[in-house]
Amino acid sequence: FRTLDALDPRGKRILLRADLNLPVKDGRITDMTRIERLAPTIRELAEKGGRVIICSHFDRPKGKRVPEMSLKPMQAALATTLGREVGFVDDCIGAEAEAAAAGLKDGDILLLENTRYHAGEEKNDPALAAGMAKLADAYVNDAFSAAHRAHSSTEGVAKLLPAYAGRLMQAELEALDAALGNPQRPVLAIVGGAKVSTKLDLLGNMSRRVDVLVIGGAMANTFLAAQGHGVGKSLQEAEMHDTARSILEQAKAAGCEIMLPLDLVVAEGFAAHSPNRVVGLDDVPEGMMALDVGPATVEAVKAKLATARTLVWNGPFGAFEIAPFDAATVAVAQEAARLTEAGTLRSVGGGGDTVSALRHAGVNERMSYVSAAGGAFLEWLEGKTLPGVAALETR
Ligand code: 3PG
Repeated sequence: FRTLDALDPRGKRILLRADLNLPVKDGRITDMTRIERLAPTIRELAEKGGRVIICSHFDRPKGKRVPEMSLKPMQAALATTLGREVGFVDDCIGAEAEAAAAGLKDGDILLLENTRYHAGEEKNDPALAAGMAKLADAYVNDAFSAAHRAHSSTEGVAKLLPAYAGRLMQAELEALDAALGNPQRPVLAIVGGAKVSTKLDLLGNMSRRVDVLVIGGAMANTFLAAQGHGVGKSLQEAEMHDTARSILEQAKAAGCEIMLPLDLVVAEGFAAHSPNRVVGLDDVPEGMMALDVGPATVEAVKAKLATARTLVWNGPFGAFEIAPFDAATVAVAQEAARLTEAGTLRSVGGGGDTVSALRHAGVNERMSYVSAAGGAFLEWLEGKTLPGVAALETR
């Protein structure tokens, strides 16, 4: 793919696909990470004299102009972060957007309204893509986190204009390639989360590509139960036992070592400070549930990390949102950060809960790379082709 190094934006209208799908609560943005990570691309384009036209989806309005899903509030957020004026047009295509785009001067920045206000966006309607392409001379995609969607603004329009990866897209792709595409070995992956059933493809792909696969979270209970251990009232998927056993066999055949918990922290209920204790795998009391892995497991994972060169992390070990069941996640995260700083480990994390878990552990800034993507990061771990990335590669 081509990066901004290959684009001279001076005097050109650049359609920049951003991911401004920020978390908003009661009309307020609760986490500015995605804007902060996008800012360098906007700054670079504007400072080099580009006329920047930003488009994005926000939430899921399903083709309707849902007022709460307007991108208008992002105008001020962008302006504050960038320290520059940002214009706004309340549609991403049409006469008004065309006039505004035509009126831009070098270095100007314009934000367009939610692409998903048009039903054509999610259908990858060529007419919508053509309407957006009409606004610009070149297309820059900086929305890795939306690249798993084959939509007009992520895929369709990339085929109609000279297309480039923005700096955030570039950083994501380079980090992911260094973690799984072309990694230093041994590679250790930590996969947690509630359900085996939602991470089947991910576990399958990981077991073919990494050297050690550590399984944590509630999904570990399903594996332990499938091996005949009693799991009490722990969350697990009884119907997935055969699948869990075949994942273990596949991994073995592929030469991937699977690490399951060696001990567990069991509690009476899913609540902060619920009475709890550490037990061995065959000592989970009937009426208790596993909410974290125990200290023996943490030590074993830390020992493996010491010999690993690359770590890919998706999903916490335990119920990290409630104390003290964050202990294993925090301990392993801090060890990963320490080894990263010592220079022996390249550590990449991402996907859903993982970012909050790593932030909770205070290591977000100390890992080699923490992805800003949720679903896209997961699909990439599954080994899927991301349409938004593929559209850049074929250009
Ligand atoms: C995300 O927040 O993960 C992306 O913006 C994609 O959003 P979507 O799941 O609504 O397509």
